[in-house]
Amino acid sequence: MVETGEQTGLVMLTEIRSDPEVIAFLQQANETLRGLGYTEHGQRHAGLVAQVSANVLTRLGHDQRLGQLAQIAGYLHDIGNLLHREHHAQSGALMAWPILKRLGMPSDEIALVMNAIGNHEEERGTANNPVSAAVIIADKADVHRSRVQNPDPATFDIHDRVNYASTRSLVRVDADQRVVALELEIDTHFAQVLEYFEIFLSRMTMVRQAVNFLGCDFRLMINDVYFS
Ligand SMILES: [Fe+2]
Ligand SMILES: [Fe+2]
Repeated sequence: MVETGEQTGLVMLTEIRSDPEVIAFLQQANETLRGLGYTEHGQRHAGLVAQVSANVLTRLGHDQRLGQLAQIAGYLHDIGNLLHREHHAQSGALMAWPILKRLGMPSDEIALVMNAIGNHEEERGTANNPVSAAVIIADKADVHRSRVQNPDPATFDIHDRVNYASTRSLVRVDADQRVVALELEIDTHFAQVLEYFEIFLSRMTMVRQAVNFLGCDFRLMINDVYFS
């Protein structure tokens, strides 16, 4: 049974999701990025990263509360885009602080969530606890057609093309073998596999570090071919 915050006294994703400030910040962050031509970074991306972050930790046998904190950090990780794309991990962590405090989250939990949000970008982020590792894995795995916001295929940039070409993306966790795999289907009518590597190499390096931090090996599978 999934426990609610009311039953446990703990802050849960359901409260975060329905918080008017979080809703407004996330919507505006996505509108800002849409205006700049970026892929979707709104409620869809937030919800998916929340779910996958929690799944990774749960499947690997981590404490249930750590999974819930990863869910919350995953949901909030991109709110910093409201201020600016640059340094949005650090600004997002600072934006999350008063929200989580207002909702009554204890400081030790806030610290973990802030750290995970602040470390999710490849320019300067490193996984240094299970929560930050899970958010990195979930965030970088979200490469999918449904993220493309540009309605005009003639003006697609490489990010639009690669995301549009991705018809399936899945994080598979094999707890027994200690393997975390990212499995992608790339429709090569829209982008070449090489183009995926062109824009995602630094992200995959970051994912590998996060997976290794969790004591697992990383595998990347594209169109049924393993790259490891
Ligand atoms: Fe981000
Ligand atoms: Fe993200």
